[in-house]
Amino acid sequence: MSTPISPSNAVTSPAARAPWWRDAVVYQVYVRSFADADGDGVGDLAGIIDHLDHLEALGVDAVWLTPCYPSPQLDHGYDVADYFDIEPAYGDLGTFDRLVAEARSRSIRVLMDVVPNHCSSQHGWFQAALAAAPGSPERARFYFRDGRGPRGDLPPNNWRSVFGGSTWTRITEPDGTPGQWYLHTFSPWQPDFDWSNPDVAAMFDSMLTFWFDRGVEGFRVDAVAVVGKAPGLPDAPPVAENTAENDAWSHNPYTVFWPDAHAHWRSWRRLVERYEDEHPGRELVTVSEAYTPDRPDLLLQYVNPDEFHQSFCFDLMLAPWRVDTLRATIEPVYDALTAAGAPLTWTINNHDTQRSVTRYGRADATELSSWTKNNLVYTGTEVDAVLGTLRARAAITLAAALPGSLYLYQGEELGLPEVLDLPDSVRQDPIFFRTDGREIGRDGCRVPLPWSADPLTSFGFSATRASGPGAPWLPQPSDWGTYSADAQQDDPASVLHLYRRLLSARRAVLDPDAGLDWWDALHPDVLALRRGGVAVVLNVGEHRVALHDALPGYDGAAVLVASVVGHDDPAHLPGNTCCWIQLR
Ligand code: BGC
Repeated sequence: MSTPISPSNAVTSPAARAPWWRDAVVYQVYVRSFADADGDGVGDLAGIIDHLDHLEALGVDAVWLTPCYPSPQLDHGYDVADYFDIEPAYGDLGTFDRLVAEARSRSIRVLMDVVPNHCSSQHGWFQAALAAAPGSPERARFYFRDGRGPRGDLPPNNWRSVFGGSTWTRITEPDGTPGQWYLHTFSPWQPDFDWSNPDVAAMFDSMLTFWFDRGVEGFRVDAVAVVGKAPGLPDAPPVAENTAENDAWSHNPYTVFWPDAHAHWRSWRRLVERYEDEHPGRELVTVSEAYTPDRPDLLLQYVNPDEFHQSFCFDLMLAPWRVDTLRATIEPVYDALTAAGAPLTWTINNHDTQRSVTRYGRADATELSSWTKNNLVYTGTEVDAVLGTLRARAAITLAAALPGSLYLYQGEELGLPEVLDLPDSVRQDPIFFRTDGREIGRDGCRVPLPWSADPLTSFGFSATRASGPGAPWLPQPSDWGTYSADAQQDDPASVLHLYRRLLSARRAVLDPDAGLDWWDALHPDVLALRRGGVAVVLNVGEHRVALHDALPGYDGAAVLVASVVGHDDPAHLPGNTCCWIQLR
């Protein structure tokens, strides 16, 4: 029988607890796609307020809102036109304040997303730079340079952008002549700030304080790895011939992980700590987004005690479904960060990555070659949704048991798959356009959420009809209702109930201070670890595996949570299943 989680086997919090975020569960709201209260087909802040009960029942400690500042939405908010206001399509500052208060009344903290590397080309500073002369203070907040070649019509260097093409775009000067070029690590609509200009740091200092004053408890910090740039912006060395188109940028040593940026993050940490000193009771968090594949040493640099509080451990999210790769993405990160006393921050889904149900259901999910294809380039449609769901359930059961904090991405608690067959005509991701469709981009994980089975209200997403004016900004598949929160509400076998069980068991039975020990050689298909008195066993193979002889403390052991419903036999582990087992 499963052991019920009761106060007698619950972990009691030590008197001096680590900060709340150290083992928090944070839920990422992709604002455009979460819930649309005003019926224009685009999610909004009022829609989030309407569904806070869902988040409370799920058991999350905080929400992270993707950028909800005024923006032309050419990268759906990651092109910020004004860091001190709310995007009108999403609401206004009053609605934002109401969201913070309503969330707080449910013990849910609100985190925002700050985009320091670039703004929108519609931002007032960039517009002023376009109107000003070369060499002016307005241009000095960005990277404006003369072009190469006799007529200046070649880009200033050979850097490749993340979204495809060159990182440089040429402008027309106010007098109508072909002019300077400006640098954009992502798209031309996202000009990079020059952080060596003190105006930039000062603007972001005011911005952080502005939102802290409104009750925001922290920030996810976008694209930190490209904020620094080598002086002189030298040409990047050539990349290997077989480098994927979408990967060339990441080999540019003159911006990726350029060390100068760390001074800015240290300054942010000082600002945060000053704010906390001046506002007793506030405990703020910053979490950095830096992909550091296979490089825990680099990851560690972002979570030095005087830099970010957290940094995503993304390796796990990108690993193929195999014992060796899953372990190789947890163990070195755990070892390196724990030895340094740094926090761990796990996630298996976000708005830039193919959803886990689809990733793990793909024909190549267990192949090493899928390691580089997890993200955007996979255009195959051969996906076993049943298998993918089974594995995604097991993956979150593993991730929820790891020491540290856990970030969820909206819709994963409903078991949503990636929508792979969006017609080209509806795609909106700049990656799709900048690569002329060679990469399908990230729209498939951003399709508006289903809340009910009612197709007439876009499955509960929107206050209006599913077609015509007010239709969701990306079309939902016809079977979306079967994944809806309503459809899963009363079904104990649902993905939603698994997430609720995991988050509640995490609080009740896992000691946040318990480390992670591995059991080796249990079975080639089994990844096994222990957190205090709880064993976590994952079988990535297809066949049932016997466990009882292999694990010490097994006599009288009981299943606490299983990724498959009804599994309560601690002596055996079905295929593609993960369990938490209370040891004696
Ligand atoms: C965000 C993306 C965004 C990019 C540019 C990323 O890392 O997560 O969604 O397109 O930064 O801001």
